[in-house]
Amino acid sequence: MSDFYQVTANQALQGQIDISGAKNAVLPLMAATLLCKGVSIINNVPQLDDVATMADVLRYLGAKVSHQGSRLIINTHACHGHQAPYHLVTKMRASIYVLGPLLARLGRANVALPGGCAWGPRPIDLHLAGMQALAAKVELSHGNIHAYAGRLTGTDFTFATSSVGATVNMLLASVLASGTTRLFNAAIEPEIDNLIDQLNAMGANIFGKGSANLCIEGVDELKPVEISAIPDRIEAGTYLIAAAMSRGHVRLNQVIPEHLTALLAKLTDCGAHIECDPNGITLDARHKPLRPMSIKTGPYPQFATDLAPQWMAMCASLSGIAQITDTIYPDRFQHVDELNRLGANIRVRGNSAYIIGTGSLSGAPVKATDLRAGAALILAGIVAKGTTQVNQIYHLDRGYQDLTQKLAQLGASVQCCSSDKHSATAQLSLCG
Ligand code: EPU
Repeated sequence: MSDFYQVTANQALQGQIDISGAKNAVLPLMAATLLCKGVSIINNVPQLDDVATMADVLRYLGAKVSHQGSRLIINTHACHGHQAPYHLVTKMRASIYVLGPLLARLGRANVALPGGCAWGPRPIDLHLAGMQALAAKVELSHGNIHAYAGRLTGTDFTFATSSVGATVNMLLASVLASGTTRLFNAAIEPEIDNLIDQLNAMGANIFGKGSANLCIEGVDELKPVEISAIPDRIEAGTYLIAAAMSRGHVRLNQVIPEHLTALLAKLTDCGAHIECDPNGITLDARHKPLRPMSIKTGPYPQFATDLAPQWMAMCASLSGIAQITDTIYPDRFQHVDELNRLGANIRVRGNSAYIIGTGSLSGAPVKATDLRAGAALILAGIVAKGTTQVNQIYHLDRGYQDLTQKLAQLGASVQCCSSDKHSATAQLSLCG
């Protein structure tokens, strides 16, 4: 028996929804609770499979983790474990976030290597080089990272590539290191700022928030705190693209517009009318014809790679030509064949996809190859003629809280169905 979404062609999306807390912010916030003993609280936590996986990793290490609605309570009093095993790391790459805090607090960590991802290689060399720069010994054997250290030692470290995950791990490790660490070319995604706020509230000394050059003065110990996760800019972006491509009129609440500057500028160029206030974004695409626009993904504040598949779905449904270039993940195009099944005309050359928008799509059975690819197919299904069956929807449970309910609130018909005839086999996913 396996689940799929049945998406029925829709009129323009209308209405308003609340955006959930950001998965990619919550995962580092959860890992940071390992840096001290006591009870930490994280608010605005979405109910998602990835959050449940990180909770399982923390439990495996000895923490008690409980939910009260969107509040997560993590008690690390009995946290003595130093191993993150393969069966958990293989479910979610971000499990590697425990490497830095375990090394910093216990002086050792044994974390399974995450391996590749549905759309190609996802190296962790920068995470490992960072730990070594902080004077940890790192060995790889039998598919595991074995890392040891006395007290970590502050250092100067330059990230060869801007990396969210490696910046997270370096922050989590260096806050308890002796002396000063200076990080150059660090990631500046809003989720990193959220983590810096939490760590500084815990007693860390991190300077330079919002810039790519960070200075961390190590402290001897940290205390547990209460923190809120920022709103999910990728979830928000997904609904904005859905609203635009359906020529709808939608308001999103609980979102920080500045986190979506690149997307909002592109949507405006396409012809959508956008109004922002401190707590929300309203998009109106009812009045002007919409035209496709080319994008190039890049590190924040550039256009997010996690919104490129959804953007592709929109361009494929409009009339005109667009190019999507992914400079973060040059192979992230698994959704192209699926969109082509819906009548799109997309060709991939190198790290670019060329979309010849035909102005209409037609429903068909397709499969989600990863989380954002799945989102793109749902969006395509909403505007495609007829019915679209999106299979392998377990990917979507990793990153979109209450997807069908939120879309229903906007007037879309997306139903979760089960079929024992359906043969798609659930696979472990390494993306996210
Ligand atoms: N990279 C390396 N070596 C490393 C680490 C990264 O070469 O050690 C390269 C990657 O191959 C990539 C670039 O650096 O080309 C950026 O990767 P990054 O490390 O920033 O990605 P990540 O931390 O593994 C996070 C998000 C992803 C998102 C990327 C890029 C989380 C849990 N995941 O991954 O989110 O695509 O940043 O913004 O925060 C998603 O939510 O669907 C998702 C995939």
